[in-house]
Amino acid sequence: MKLARTAILAIASVSLGSAAIVQAQDQTEEPEMSELERRLDVDSVLFNATIKEEPDDDLLELGRLVAMGSSENGGSGMACITCHGVDGEGDGSGAFPRLDGQAGWYMYKQLQDYASGDRPNRVMSGIAQRLTEREREAVSAYYAAMPSGDLDTAHGSMDGTLLQWGGQLAAVGSAEKGIPACVNCHGAQGTGLPPSVPYLAGQYAGYMELQLELWTDGTRDNDAMDVMSTIAKKMTEEDMRAVSEYYARVSNPATDGAEAQAEYDMPAAE
Ligand code: HEC
Ligand code: HEC
Repeated sequence: MKLARTAILAIASVSLGSAAIVQAQDQTEEPEMSELERRLDVDSVLFNATIKEEPDDDLLELGRLVAMGSSENGGSGMACITCHGVDGEGDGSGAFPRLDGQAGWYMYKQLQDYASGDRPNRVMSGIAQRLTEREREAVSAYYAAMPSGDLDTAHGSMDGTLLQWGGQLAAVGSAEKGIPACVNCHGAQGTGLPPSVPYLAGQYAGYMELQLELWTDGTRDNDAMDVMSTIAKKMTEEDMRAVSEYYARVSNPATDGAEAQAEYDMPAAE
């Protein structure tokens, strides 16, 4: 079954994570980096402890039902698919993030954070609160196992210099502004570092830009060791827009098994 197989891939990539983390250590001297790396290791351990094996069919079936709008608590009120799409790709408007192929543990944590108020949101907090822990886990596993491909989104034309700047921030960051390279944690191709770090490649630009703003003003306050809020506070609005528009255009082979490939080559690291 395709769903189950991609889920195993997602779990297998946890072990690859530590290699990337070691690499990240070499690339930056940000003090908070080493803290986060330690935390990421703890998260990996937790993740392995929580989901020892591939999610079984019962869990995925429960996840499917939750996505369609049913729940032990009498319904989450709204089916996830209404906004996040039947295929997890959102509705094309860019207002709702893609969930297909996103890191399962990351999504589960987000649902916990929406429910607890660490990531308050008018829509998602109420929905998450109405789900049981098992339903949060199930629906996260369901979306994580969903094969993701590239969206058919037509990206508006964008100033080439801005995109290039975005690509540079992603690949090497900015020593001058103290912004670490996004690839340190989000993976060389922006495909994320499960379990804790989400993919950015192929995510909607407007959504990513908004998250960076929410971190700046402290509304989203759920990241381990304040890594993302520390980074976001060093970015101008233009930086946020540039890197978000850049990542939205990067091809994401996440769970397809296809070879990693970026539409725009990342500038070579210095
Ligand atoms: C009415 C529209 C709507 C519905 C229904 C909805 N969502 Fe959301 N969802 C959103 C919006 C808007 C956001 C972004 C909110 C923000 O900025 O934090 C979001 C964000 C998320 C995120 C965070 C993604 C990320 O990359 O961090 C997850 C996970 C999620 N939703 C899961 C679900 C699940 C599971 C359901 C069904 C139980 C669901 N959503 C139902 C609108 C919706
Ligand atoms: C030290 C590691 C680290 C670095 C470097 C890093 N990130 Fe993150 N990022 C994270 C983690 C961890 C999360 C998930 C936080 C959470 O649990 O909500 C995250 C989440 C995000 C999200 C939210 C995605 C979503 O689906 O909601 C965006 C957008 C983002 N990062 C952008 C960036 C950009 C742009 C850069 C580079 C300028 C960057 N990050 C650099 C660790 C990092």
